[in-house]
Parts: sequence; structure tokens; C-alpha cells
Amino acid sequence: NNSGLVLGLETSCDETAAAVLDWEGRVRSSIVSSQHATHGPYGGVVPELAARRHIETIESIARRALDQADAGWANLRLIACTSGPGLAGALLVGLSYGKALAYALRIPWVTVNHLDGHIASAWIDRPASRSSALVLVVSGGHTHLYRTAGTSGYRLLGRTLDDAAGEAFDKGAKLLGLGFPGGPALDKLARSGNPKAVRFPRSLGKRTSLDFSFSGLKTSLLYHLRDHPDWDQPTRTADIAASYQEAIVDVLVIKALRAVDQSGLRTLAVVGGVSANSRLRARLMEAASTQGIEVVIPPLSLCTDNAVMIAKAGLDAYCQGRMASWDMESQANASF
Ligand code: KG4
Ligand code: ZN
Repeated sequence: NNSGLVLGLETSCDETAAAVLDWEGRVRSSIVSSQHATHGPYGGVVPELAARRHIETIESIARRALDQADAGWANLRLIACTSGPGLAGALLVGLSYGKALAYALRIPWVTVNHLDGHIASAWIDRPASRSSALVLVVSGGHTHLYRTAGTSGYRLLGRTLDDAAGEAFDKGAKLLGLGFPGGPALDKLARSGNPKAVRFPRSLGKRTSLDFSFSGLKTSLLYHLRDHPDWDQPTRTADIAASYQEAIVDVLVIKALRAVDQSGLRTLAVVGGVSANSRLRARLMEAASTQGIEVVIPPLSLCTDNAVMIAKAGLDAYCQGRMASWDMESQANASF
């Protein structure tokens, strides 16, 4: 029976998102309400404010997703919610709302690990099997390299030892006075700069290492700005942004290709907020053609946090026989 719809809900950080998929995994609607205006003045996400904003908006966002899908509550057959990792209070809102809704509608409810959601985003609207692939998750909280194992498992090959790649973008952007959220702003500014203007360090570790480290890069940006008081002239700032971005992208691409070499796998998926970065996307596409590998990157709208990926991962989990128990709690520190 292929009728019935899936509602996905995502509230792990500062976007309130709802999406509706049909039972075959096709996207019927997606709404993402960002709280950037709320957190901007503070230069970062304020957890308590995030939770309050989710409470205020979740109901209307869910209704809008249903409206856009031309559907009503009665058409829902499954609800999928992010359970973690993320901000505890923020997670609790989507989880409690989704659980209550499923209970009231007498339909099943599944919880989804946020990273599993990001990974699922690479294969939305793409029938290819996701077995035998390398997966690089690059977000605000994670820089993790996996290989798929079986139909739904993953084996960790490497991870960041300090900052995540998204954090490196955000912290660099903050030092350059680009505001919050910093990653997209730095990406934009870097387009008009010279990536070879400043030679920032690339931390590559031992020859075989698949771990990452970005804290030294951030420190070297700090020293560069201190030693070059004229850095805030527009062309200088753009050059520094482009050079700093190039250092992050270099490390991500080199490590991902290192994993391709070591594993012998020919498919590389790159997901998470940083996969929206224009330079990273261009470099990965170039690598795909020169190395003859398949690189899978989600469309831009599915790179940063959204509920389509949660609905898709939830549908997959449900079809594999997984369901959440009604006493399941949110798991802010969930690993993957
Ligand atoms: O996946 P995501 O939306 O949330 C988490 O799960 O963390 O990722 C957010 C991260 C932020 O650090 C943000 O600055 C970064 O992704 N990001 C970008 C770009 N768009 C988002 N970083 C670089 N370039 C971008 N275009
Ligand atoms: Zn995310």
C-alpha cells in the first residue's frame, strides 16, 4: 500500500522545519523558518531563545507544510522527528509536538538522528543505492567521515579533533566582522577574493590520517589580522576570506580523496550545511571528473537544516521495521 504521507519535523538548532513526503519518498512540500534574525544580535544561537521560537512557530510551520502539500492531518501515515544531537530544549519542542500529534492521530512515530537525516539528504530524488559509499558530514557541529556498512549502518573513519568545519567558517567570519551566520557570508565575500593571497596552514596529520583539525587555522587567522592592521580594507578582507576558505576546502577535499584511495570505494557523498559552500562544491565536482568518481551532493536547499531529510530518513527507518517507543526522550548528545 503506497498511499499516505510522511510528516518530518526538525527543531535541533535554529531552524523550525516541516516537510511532507509521499510514501515513495517524493517531496510534496518543505518549509524552513530560520531564526537568524533572533540570534543575529547575539552573534550566535541562544539555546533558550531557540526553544521559545520553536514553540511559537512549530504548529503554523507544520500546517503550512500540509497546506503546501494539498493535504490534511487525515492524510498522514507517519511522523518523523529529530531526536538529537542538538540543543536539548529545541529538540524537545519538535519531538513532543510530533509525538503528541502521532498519538492523537493514531499513527506511528519514528525518531531520526540528525546526522542520519543529513546523510539521507544526499539520496533524495536519486534512486541509486547508498550502499558502498563514503560519506563526509560537514555541518556546524560535525566533521565526520564514514563509510556505509550494510543497508543502514555506518562506520566512522575519521572526525575532527577540535572544531567542526562549519565552526571554522563561523569563527573565521566572526573575526572578519561578517556577522551571523558566518559561513554563507564568508562564502559570498570570498568569491571576489584571491584564494592564494595568504598562505594559511592546512592540518593534514599523518599520511594516512582521516581525522581533521581546524583550531590552528582559526588561530593563524587571528594572528594574521593582528599583524596586518590594514586587513579591513575591502579588497584585503575578500582576499583573506578567500584564502581562509581555501584552506578549509583544501583539507576537506584532500581528506575525502584520501578516504577514496584508501577504501577503493568510488562514490563520495558530502552533506551538511558546509556542503552548500560554493567553492567546496566546485572543487568536489572537479575532483569527480578528474578522478572518475561519483560525487553526490544534495541540492542547495537540502544542505542546511531542513525537514525533508528527516522525513526521508524516518520513512526509510520505518520501512526497515523501526519505530520509536512512546517514552522515547530527546537525546541532545546523541552520537552516530
Ligand atoms: O547542517 P547545518 O545547517 O546545521 C548543523 O547541523 O550544524 O550546518 C550549519 C553550518 C554553519 O556552521 C554554517 O555557517 C555552515 O553550515 N554553512 C556554510 C555555508 N552555508 C552554511 N559554510 C560555508 N559556506 C556556506 N555557503
Ligand atoms: Zn544540521
